Amino acid sequence: MSLDRRTALLKLAALFSAPRYGAAQETSKAEKPDPRIADCANVFDFAPFAKAKLDPIAWDYLEGGSEDEVSLKDNREGFNRIIIRPRALVDVHKIDTSLELFGKRLDFPILLDPAGGKNCFYADAENVVARGAGKTGALHITNGGIQNSLEKGTAAKVWWNLTTGGDLRNAQTMRAFAKRLESMGCSGICFTTDIMYVSHRERNIHNKFERNWCEAGVPKRDRYGKLPASKNPESAGEFPSRPFPTPTWNSVRELRQITTLPIVLKGILIEEDASRAVEYGVSGVIVSNHGARQLDHVGGTIEALPEVVRGAQGKIPVLIDGGIRRGTDVLKALALGAKAVCIARPYLYGLAAFGQPGVERVIELLKTEFALDMGLAGVPDLKSITRDLVRIRG
Ligand SMILES: Cc1cc2nc3c(=O)[nH]c(=O)nc-3n(C[C@H](O)[C@H](O)[C@H](O)COP(=O)(O)O)c2cc1C
Repeated sequence: MSLDRRTALLKLAALFSAPRYGAAQETSKAEKPDPRIADCANVFDFAPFAKAKLDPIAWDYLEGGSEDEVSLKDNREGFNRIIIRPRALVDVHKIDTSLELFGKRLDFPILLDPAGGKNCFYADAENVVARGAGKTGALHITNGGIQNSLEKGTAAKVWWNLTTGGDLRNAQTMRAFAKRLESMGCSGICFTTDIMYVSHRERNIHNKFERNWCEAGVPKRDRYGKLPASKNPESAGEFPSRPFPTPTWNSVRELRQITTLPIVLKGILIEEDASRAVEYGVSGVIVSNHGARQLDHVGGTIEALPEVVRGAQGKIPVLIDGGIRRGTDVLKALALGAKAVCIARPYLYGLAAFGQPGVERVIELLKTEFALDMGLAGVPDLKSITRDLVRIRG
């Protein structure tokens, strides 16, 4: 079947068989796998099912970027400029995708990124994702709120917790935050550095999207298809200011002194900041432009990866996210020096479309696609993925 015909059929199937909207109201108990999961052969195939299930404004929140969405396109297109140089006649009868990260063994180098507002896509979503990560063995970077899964032992074995600023306001709040995480068995702190302000996500502004709706899920539309008026919609035209100083490198230094947990800075895009991260005792960095949802025109993350790897000087691991949808994307990122990759929208498509089984299937598909691509490229394990496995077009 041609790809276009297949995509059209998938879109049609999603349109006719999915309940319209209100996905966040579904309970996670109804998690019997939907047979339509079998129609999904790759990450992209989940998107039309997710779109059909979600309220259009929730879909825009999931899929959109900021301002011109130039970085959003760059995140994908950047991968197309990298050419794989496959190696012939290597024994690839066994493929090993495992690695060690901060003393923890992981089965594969694909991590789940933090994503706020997940309840706009599915009820109790953070726990649903935690269980999906637990089932598949993925490392989960959580936004918090997974106590339920932790208590039941269903969360990921290795999980990191996100912070963006509030927890880092002063030594007291930092200490309380770090101690709480340590006592919960957390394996790392992911400090997002690129969201000191929320950008103009213009799809949300046009939709009068209210971020608070994602606490409980997008409200039901009335019989005329209208949403209740938003009280605090995302908007443009307000001069930026914050009531408290935003975190700085000093906050990183203080946090480093307070906890022994690995600290990973997410949102690093330049060599100088990678070097500074090493200087400040940071454990690792994630090359990220927040899924092109913050500052626009920063380029695709895969373009920034080589300079960040240079800045890290082999002293700390460099991870990357943004636009990773294919096993070949993972292969290219690792060849350019990433230790592992992280994904957000892919597992959110799976979540919105099919709940926990959708999250699991997305992870399984991407992981196995990566393993297959390793086999095809003549690299049986991660240490064989070296810089000479790729060249950059032009
Ligand atoms: C719906 C959504 C919500 C997100 N929320 C957060 C967040 O709360 N904190 C954060 O650091 N990054 C957040 N991100 C960014 C992701 O962690 C990640 O950097 C990015 O989306 C990766 O690109 P990808 O979606 O193309 O895989 C969010 C992304 C999405 C799509």
